[in-house]
Amino acid sequence: MESSKVIDKIMKLRAEIARHDELYHREAKPLISDFEYDQLKVELVALEAENPELALEESPSNKVGDDRLEGFTTYPHRSPMQSLDNTYSESELRDFHARIVRLLGEEQSFSYVVEPKLDGVAVSLTYEQGKLVRAVTRGNGVEGDDVTENVRTIQSLPHQLSGNNHPEVIEIRGEIYMTNAEFVRINRGREEAGLETYANPRNLTAGTIKQLDRSEVAKRNLAIVLYGLGYCEPLIVSRQSDFQNLLKGWGLPVVEKFWQAEDIDQVWSQIMELDAARQDFSYATDGAVVKVDSIALQEELGSTAKAPRWAIAYKFAAEQAETLLKEITVQVGRTGVLTPVAELQPVQLAGTTVSRATLHNQEEVARKDVRVGDTVIVEKAGEIIPAVVSVVMAKRPADSEVYHFPEACPICQTLAIQIPGEVAKRCPNLSCPAQVRRRLEHFASKQCLDIEGMGQSVVEQLVEKGLISRLSDIYRLRSEDLIELEKFAEKSVENLLQGIELSKRTELWRFIHGFGIQQVGAAAAKDLAKTFGSLEKLAAADQETLVKIDGIGEKTAEGIHAYFREPMNTQLMEELQKLGIEPMAPAVEEVTEGAFSGKTVVLTGTLPTMTRGEAGKRIEASGGKVSSSVSKKTDYVLAGVEAGSKLEKAKKLGVAILDEEAFLQMLDPLSD
Ligand code: IVH
Repeated sequence: MESSKVIDKIMKLRAEIARHDELYHREAKPLISDFEYDQLKVELVALEAENPELALEESPSNKVGDDRLEGFTTYPHRSPMQSLDNTYSESELRDFHARIVRLLGEEQSFSYVVEPKLDGVAVSLTYEQGKLVRAVTRGNGVEGDDVTENVRTIQSLPHQLSGNNHPEVIEIRGEIYMTNAEFVRINRGREEAGLETYANPRNLTAGTIKQLDRSEVAKRNLAIVLYGLGYCEPLIVSRQSDFQNLLKGWGLPVVEKFWQAEDIDQVWSQIMELDAARQDFSYATDGAVVKVDSIALQEELGSTAKAPRWAIAYKFAAEQAETLLKEITVQVGRTGVLTPVAELQPVQLAGTTVSRATLHNQEEVARKDVRVGDTVIVEKAGEIIPAVVSVVMAKRPADSEVYHFPEACPICQTLAIQIPGEVAKRCPNLSCPAQVRRRLEHFASKQCLDIEGMGQSVVEQLVEKGLISRLSDIYRLRSEDLIELEKFAEKSVENLLQGIELSKRTELWRFIHGFGIQQVGAAAAKDLAKTFGSLEKLAAADQETLVKIDGIGEKTAEGIHAYFREPMNTQLMEELQKLGIEPMAPAVEEVTEGAFSGKTVVLTGTLPTMTRGEAGKRIEASGGKVSSSVSKKTDYVLAGVEAGSKLEKAKKLGVAILDEEAFLQMLDPLSD
């Protein structure tokens, strides 16, 4: 490939993977199957390996994803929580073995354990002297969200370990999951209540464990399995297989079954055995995890930035089914994005009936040449939203016609537009009824105004009845309007009105996020709230001022500026003000005058006498700000030993580079 094309491809892959990471880890709403996601990563890793000059420390190929959310306290892991390398092929599994043999030397004898791989949410439990003190999600691998109270609702989990051989401190890793039966029970209840059903147990588990109300969590009967050793003081086991038995002896729930293997052939036959047995497990397993049994050898093998070298996940290929594609419909999202959806002849797949599947976007439909009347292969990997993976060309009717993506929005008939640099087509009509509804849903949702009692079905009814169409209409709702809604009585009306009233004084960033300005997520909304302190000031800001804010790129600045120039939105701001909306400005941070006042510093590498955390605190204490990535806006890079790509980038951009000595000098110029 030509080099500009390679760069382009790498950038596109990184952006795409980062988006899917966000959807999977933070929102628990993945769009694509694990398999498709893994393929994207394989492609990126290969391109980065072929073009090492384009590799980047922050590339999603080096990261474990991040599940941390607003509203949770974070806790550091005593030992990092890594992810696992994975493969779908036997030959790569054999490569994994060959690499271990090479690293340990031919003479070294060793064995493996083979365990089921559960499809849930990773968690780290800390027990001190046998007592459960904390449960933390993986987070970014270094620190995660404290979900202790929610985890305590899991009935099968002992808060006190049995027996008496307990280490002082132990971090035990495991997976929180939901049984298929429980998943079906919850969805049935939702269906009866006319609510949207959940897509699969893994997503529901991820959403549940991050609920802020523990009584809601308790209603959902989560389960847990423990399988891994994080940190242990003093270390009391020497093998993974012994560790499994130790966990069992302490009364902790462990995997249904595990195998011990002397060589890789045995590993393979055990994986096949597991594949046959897993249908009868009460939970979803998406593969096998193969681990070197000896903990001493695990330590000798160590790990890469992302995953240990002593373990690998072998994933079972997703279940697929063949069916007829009857029609292609197009859904309109909040920002007008048009998503093609395959309407299918219902088919049984991984235990459920599938009648719709996503076709992702116009480009994907064209790439796969999907046509109405085709027989297609649908997949539901890990019970994720089904997707069309390919067309059975041999079964294509002779008279089939190439699918033409609609030129106009299917809801409001406005001519769709294609924004340069984006795959998706959009409906540009801000008053499109489909967009209006989704905008209102977003505004009221937990991530934004968090209006209690104003879920999707309530918004839908309010829009249908013509009671709301603009965000400001929410604040004009009266009890006479609400009592008409399905299943609404005096109490629920009162609650909803109270929820609306409370939202008037909620934090400023929630409003900014709630407007649904393109590219402005919660993080950017917080930066904007902090910088401007009020809607009026934000609305008046020019593009230059916006671009100067750390975390706001050019495109985002342009979008924000355009949003507040749109007459419909200027009017909205005026109305909100008249309706008595007074968002809470963030507390003004005390501006400290010091050596780094107003400066942005990026830290990289290991410093000789202090940790990066300490250096960061000193920068902040002297008025500066620490940022994680180097850009034109960076004032200094503080580099220690083994500083990698950030240092390179700083040099390229001509950013001033400090070593620890120069840094200390700046903080205290009088010291020698
Ligand atoms: S061991 C250093 N064992 O799968 C990582 N992980 O795709 C050690 N998982 O991050 C992980 N079942 O969340 C291990 N029996 C098992 C597992 C398991 C599920 C999860 C875990 C891991 C992810 C990797």
